Amino acid sequence: MRIVLVGPPGAGKGTQAAFLAKNLSIPHISTGDLFRANISQQTELGKLAKSYMDAGNLVPDEVTIGMAKDRMEQADAVGGFLLDGFPRNVSQAEALDEALKADEVKLDAVLDLEVPEDEVVKRIAGRRICRNDSAHVFHVEYKQPKSEGVCDVCGGELYQRGDDKEETVRKRLEVYHSETEPIIDHYRAQGLVVTISALGEVADVTERAMAALKKSA
Ligand code: AP5
Ligand code: ZN
Repeated sequence: MRIVLVGPPGAGKGTQAAFLAKNLSIPHISTGDLFRANISQQTELGKLAKSYMDAGNLVPDEVTIGMAKDRMEQADAVGGFLLDGFPRNVSQAEALDEALKADEVKLDAVLDLEVPEDEVVKRIAGRRICRNDSAHVFHVEYKQPKSEGVCDVCGGELYQRGDDKEETVRKRLEVYHSETEPIIDHYRAQGLVVTISALGEVADVTERAMAALKKSA
């Protein structure tokens, strides 16, 4: 299956993607995680991405689209992917449409996670991630690690993301509304959008998502 996950910052995309990718046996591709891995390895791409991410802005399409396509090419060999955080504006969505068309394949669904803004702010404020892998995600209240400040998966140190500061979060939400939300209409026109509420327990949201994806298949 080829699935795109959309939703505001802090909606739980990364959290759900980990379970959905496992259930569906497809790789989870997060452009945010790819950028953060480049930042921790101090690559040129990481240095460039960091300046945009710290300000809550989108990293330019010229670097993002190439990076996402490279990763998708590796992934498609195993029969699909779950995209998290890409596409993030209409021109990225158009670039993805073209790439899929060239490969004569199609998206199966665009899963839209709906969460009210006050809940998103709470989720982001309490989020802690692992120094070794930003896909290892915890929450000080909702998903506490067994040992405070230590990742359950790999024992790495947990920390708060640089772009999770209040003023940056406000900017990211603004960018989501102005740049990312329009892709929902873009995909609605293709009949691909499935919207679910992402409120409630993580496992309940996963169940809701799996049921919605089955229905749309
Ligand atoms: P990215 O890393 O994609 O961040 P985002 O979209 O802002 O999303 P988040 O990672 O903040 O949240 P999430 O929805 O994954 O929530 P999570 O599961 O962690 O992008 C970061 C930056 O990179 C962008 O601002 C941009 O600069 C750049 N970038 C990335 N992609 C790009 C692109 N395509 N083009 C250009 N620039 C790009 O959950 C949040 C918290 O809530 C966690 O603590 C979790 O434990 C908790 N939680 C999750 N579910 C629940 C639940 N059901 N109940 C209670 N708590 C929950
Ligand atoms: Zn870890």
